[in-house]
Amino acid sequence: MNTVIIGGGIIGLSIGWQLAKKGVNVEILEKDKAGLSASRAAAGMLAPQAEMGFEDIELFYLCRSSLDLFPRFTEELYNDSGIKVELERTGCILPGFDRDDAERLRRLYDFREKIGMPVLWLTGSEAREIEPFLSPRCTGAIWIEDDAQINNRLLLDALKIAFVKCGGRLYEDHEVEEIIIEGDKVKGIKVHGTNLNFNNVVVAAGSWSKQIKGLPDNLLPPVRPVKGQIINLRLNDSCKISKVVRAPDVYLLPKSDGRLIVGASVEEQGFDVNPTAGEIFRLLERGWEAVPSIYDLPIESIDVGLRPGSRDHMPIVGDSEVEGLYFATGHYRNGILLTPVTAFEMAEWISTGNKSDVLKGFGIERFYKETV
Ligand code: FAD
Ligand code: GLY
Repeated sequence: MNTVIIGGGIIGLSIGWQLAKKGVNVEILEKDKAGLSASRAAAGMLAPQAEMGFEDIELFYLCRSSLDLFPRFTEELYNDSGIKVELERTGCILPGFDRDDAERLRRLYDFREKIGMPVLWLTGSEAREIEPFLSPRCTGAIWIEDDAQINNRLLLDALKIAFVKCGGRLYEDHEVEEIIIEGDKVKGIKVHGTNLNFNNVVVAAGSWSKQIKGLPDNLLPPVRPVKGQIINLRLNDSCKISKVVRAPDVYLLPKSDGRLIVGASVEEQGFDVNPTAGEIFRLLERGWEAVPSIYDLPIESIDVGLRPGSRDHMPIVGDSEVEGLYFATGHYRNGILLTPVTAFEMAEWISTGNKSDVLKGFGIERFYKETV
């Protein structure tokens, strides 16, 4: 049984690595260079409790279980790559600055407390004790101690090494032009005009997942690119923020490599990846309102990535009515956080044929059932 994964982002690489560990004959085909797309631009926040909206409870539980899997994931990755990628339990603070913020935060807090999350309500001065660089205008905050973050760039480096060391084959600059299906079975793919046979094909092509030819209409994953811009500032003595701050419309993430990420825009601009003055200005202004001392920090770079957003913003993971055809896409704003659960569950599913209970409800069939 041989398997091909289309896309060398964090999702394709991590499933590939887990399959290779199980002895599966697996290749990853990447149209550009692996690990340079959304997965690299991401901030690396692992904050299911801070990010959750009121409607996302199923997604929240999936995210939460993925966060719990991170220590196992990074330990295995260290054994297979020699690269230690630390899970950083930085904690996350959600500050408010006026009455509207306070009301919004109170509702978020009540909801979290009701479902048993470990959250704390802080006054402005308590919040500044935890993060002294917060604006003195902060009137109250939610504190979530066990949300975390990770260096996603290092994670990608480690995954590439681990995948190859475990026996996987990575082909960069190989764009998959078509998926070949005959009857109710997948037969393989077309690359550089040549048909190649595979028993299993995994679509992990992020924002481009819908662009690959050969899929019938009812199996086209409804995924679109959602542009995100971030600014990388360089921390220095004038601003030594140490907690993740999620203020209204902006987040600030101090990274262990000395960057302070200020992000992120959420834009419907198709496949455009150009940074724009308006969004950068808005992010910096919002960031400065929350943490005024960012004002003097040097700007290191700007990153732009395309989040693969599905129609309902939930991931599309699992098999399909075509034998041997799998999807692992649509991870939208949580692809780094959802990496361990996606990799462990999908690798088990593909290698044994046993469906995953954990991923139940997140398959592509939820979209095409709607239209029958
Ligand atoms: P990608 O990383 O985009 O990889 C897909 C790959 O497929 C690409 O390399 C592409 O070249 C390749 N490909 C496409 N078509 C083909 C083809 N036909 N043939 C071969 N290869 C192909 N998530 C979090 O959990 N926490 C965060 O803090 C966070 N912050 C973010 C901040 C920003 C600004 C952005 C943009 C995203 C953020 N995300 C975050 C979301 C996360 O980055 C994505 O959900 C995740 O990276 C998706 O991974 P992927 O592998 O599916 O996609
Ligand atoms: N999860 C952070 C982002 O998508 O910007």
